[in-house]
Amino acid sequence: MKGLFVTFEGIDGSGKSTQIEMLSEDLRKEGIPYILIREPGATAIGEKIRTILLDKANSKMHARTELLLYEAARAQIVEEKIKPELEKGTVVICDRFYDSTVAYQGYARGLELSAIDSLNRWSTDELAPDITFLFDLSEEEAYRRRNGREGAEDRLEAEGLAFMKKVRDGYLELAKKEKRIQCISALDAPKEIYRKVRLAVWEVLGR
Ligand SMILES: Nc1ncnc2c1ncn2[C@@H]1O[C@H](COP(=O)(O)OP(=O)(O)OP(=O)(O)O)[C@@H](O)[C@H]1O
Ligand SMILES: [Mg+2]
Repeated sequence: MKGLFVTFEGIDGSGKSTQIEMLSEDLRKEGIPYILIREPGATAIGEKIRTILLDKANSKMHARTELLLYEAARAQIVEEKIKPELEKGTVVICDRFYDSTVAYQGYARGLELSAIDSLNRWSTDELAPDITFLFDLSEEEAYRRRNGREGAEDRLEAEGLAFMKKVRDGYLELAKKEKRIQCISALDAPKEIYRKVRLAVWEVLGR
C-alpha cells in the first residue's frame, strides 16, 4: 500500500494548525497511521536550518539564500521522512510544503517563479502532494486572529500586511494552475472547514 501525502497551505494565521489538529485526531481515532511534518524543520538538519531562517539576527539574509535554505531542508525531509513513510503506507501531513516557497519567495519576495519551480521539483525528487488544502483569508483577518495568540513575532511575521497580501494573491494564482490544490474559505467555522477537509481525505483513502 502506498500512503497519502497531504499538505496544508495559507498565510500565517489562516487556520492550518487548527485543521491539522482536527485531522490528526480523526486519523488517530480511526487507527489510520499518520505523521505530522512541519516545514522546514522535521529532521535534525531541518530544525537547524529553521533556526537560521527565523532568527531576527539574520536580517542580512539575501532572498536567494533564504530560498536555498528552504530547499535544503526540504530535500532532507523528503528523503529522511516523507518517502520512507509513504512507502510504509502512512498518511503524511505537512504543515506547509513547496507551495509556500512559491507564494512567499516567489510571488511575495519577487524571485523568479521558473527558478523556484525547478528548485522545488529538484529538491523533492519530483514528489508532489496528493492533496493540498489552501485556506484563503484576508491578511487583515489573519492578523486579527494571530493577535489573539501568544508568542513573539518572528522575522517573517514582522514584515506586515502588505507582504501577506502578496502571499495571499500568490497562493490564489497558484491554486488556479494546480488541480491538486483545494481552495477553502477560512472564514467559516473550524468545524465546517474540517468537514470539507475530511471529505476530501477520506475520498482518496477510499473509505
Ligand atoms: N475557522 C476559524 N475561525 C476563526 N478562528 C480560527 C479559525 N481557525 C483557526 N482560528 C484561530 O485563528 C488563529 C490562527 O489559527 P492557526 O494557528 O490554526 O493558523 P496557522 O495557519 O497555523 O498559523 P501559522 O501560519 O502562524 O502557524 C488561532 O487562534 C485559531 O484558534
Ligand atoms: Mg500553524
